[in-house]
Amino acid sequence: MARTTASAFLSILLLSAETAAWGNLGHTTVALIAQSFLSPQTVNFTQSLLNDTSSTFLANVATWADSYRKEPGGEFSGVYHYIDALDSPPASCDVDYDRDCPEEGCIVSAIANYTTRVQSSNVSFAERQKALKWIIHFVGDIHQPLHVENLAVGGNLINVTFEGASANLHRIWDSDMPEKLIGGYALEDALDWSSSLLEDIKAGGKYANQSSTWLTGIDVNDAIASSMHWAQDANAYVCSTVVPEGQEAVEGKELEGEYYDAAIPVIQQQIAKAGYRLAAWLNLIVTGQTGVGGEYVSLTRPAWKRWEDGKREVQLEDWMVEARRVRRAFGSDCGPAGHHH
Ligand SMILES: *[C@@H]1O[C@H](CO)[C@@H](O)[C@H](O)[C@H]1NC(C)=O
Ligand SMILES: *[C@@H]1O[C@H](CO)[C@@H](O)[C@H](O)[C@H]1NC(C)=O
Ligand SMILES: *[C@@H]1O[C@H](CO)[C@@H](O)[C@H](O)[C@H]1NC(C)=O
Ligand SMILES: *[C@@H]1O[C@H](CO)[C@@H](O)[C@H](O)[C@H]1NC(C)=O
Ligand SMILES: *[C@@H]1O[C@H](CO)[C@@H](O)[C@H](O)[C@H]1NC(C)=O
Ligand SMILES: *[C@@H]1O[C@H](CO)[C@@H](O)[C@H](O)[C@H]1NC(C)=O
Ligand SMILES: [Zn+2]
Repeated sequence: MARTTASAFLSILLLSAETAAWGNLGHTTVALIAQSFLSPQTVNFTQSLLNDTSSTFLANVATWADSYRKEPGGEFSGVYHYIDALDSPPASCDVDYDRDCPEEGCIVSAIANYTTRVQSSNVSFAERQKALKWIIHFVGDIHQPLHVENLAVGGNLINVTFEGASANLHRIWDSDMPEKLIGGYALEDALDWSSSLLEDIKAGGKYANQSSTWLTGIDVNDAIASSMHWAQDANAYVCSTVVPEGQEAVEGKELEGEYYDAAIPVIQQQIAKAGYRLAAWLNLIVTGQTGVGGEYVSLTRPAWKRWEDGKREVQLEDWMVEARRVRRAFGSDCGPAGHHH
């Protein structure tokens, strides 16, 4: 990926610099990693649908969904950026589709919906294009542990400081910690980060022997089960790394030290996984093969009902009803930004 091509897109990316979810850096890096694993037919399919044959065709739309949710008519998609797991970290972490994905939808139902729509001959070109842009974005978001957690509105209500500046826990996982690691949030920074993570994924790299396990359970005909697996995987880090000693242990604290040191390996691995899984997912949609060399391993998993068939009735406990009320009152966007770019 040439630096010269990169700079041409910088201005486009900067227009949407104030984003929610993995910030620009994370989403763009995920898309760049995914691009390098796409099969030739998938490149053709995605370039045609995106109407973009540039060298950064996936990266160019990686944060579109964060702008669209703020546009008139796009607000409905705000809730699709997360699933609020009503679990109890740090004692227990888990995501339950029937319990956690409410009537208005969530990231898991959205990945399923847009996976169907991007392939449907009954959906207009413009809507299939949007479906693809949402998939590119949501496969990124679902790897951010605080996008698969209800606690304090995904950490938005947990105030912390980072390098002396006021922030919240959600915000530092989305942007502040990745940006401290890489040193910026521009396309060039994402190109640097993606190159380094691609080395880690390739033969001899630190993720080489685990990357095939990242595709465990992937099944393009069961997008709910596949994306629930990704959600469970990310949600486990809420207990182990995000709030290992509970919310109170991080509330009001400066997190640039040991906390950051423990979080960074998880952030790096989640970004790498998201890019790898996004490529496999798009390859499966277009070609029926993951295209990344990983074996297709089916999981022994709970029998998630196909989303079209409706969901099992779950009686929410009082605290869960209250937690969901707090989320809805807060809204679907991320909290006050720790900083603006
Ligand atoms: C590339 O995509 C276009 C549009 O989807 C399609 O018509 C064409 O057959 C594809 N070409 C190849 C080589 O797959
Ligand atoms: C594709 O992009 C070109 C150049 O930007 C534009 O002229 C054309 O209308 C676009 N086509 C579609 C289908 O959006
Ligand atoms: C699927 O996506 C379409 C287009 O964005 C939307 O109108 C519809 O409500 C979605 N359906 C579900 C079940 O999320
Ligand atoms: C295609 O869309 C039309 C109008 O939205 C709908 O009535 C029809 O059932 C759809 N067909 C299929 C095969 O989904
Ligand atoms: C967190 O910070 C915001 C302003 O950044 C403030 O409005 C809010 O009251 C704070 N919450 C707590 C629990 O201190
Ligand atoms: C990957 O290799 C390392 C040693 O290089 C080993 O400790 C680890 O268990 C291996 N992981 C898998 C999933 O095989
Ligand atoms: Zn998002």
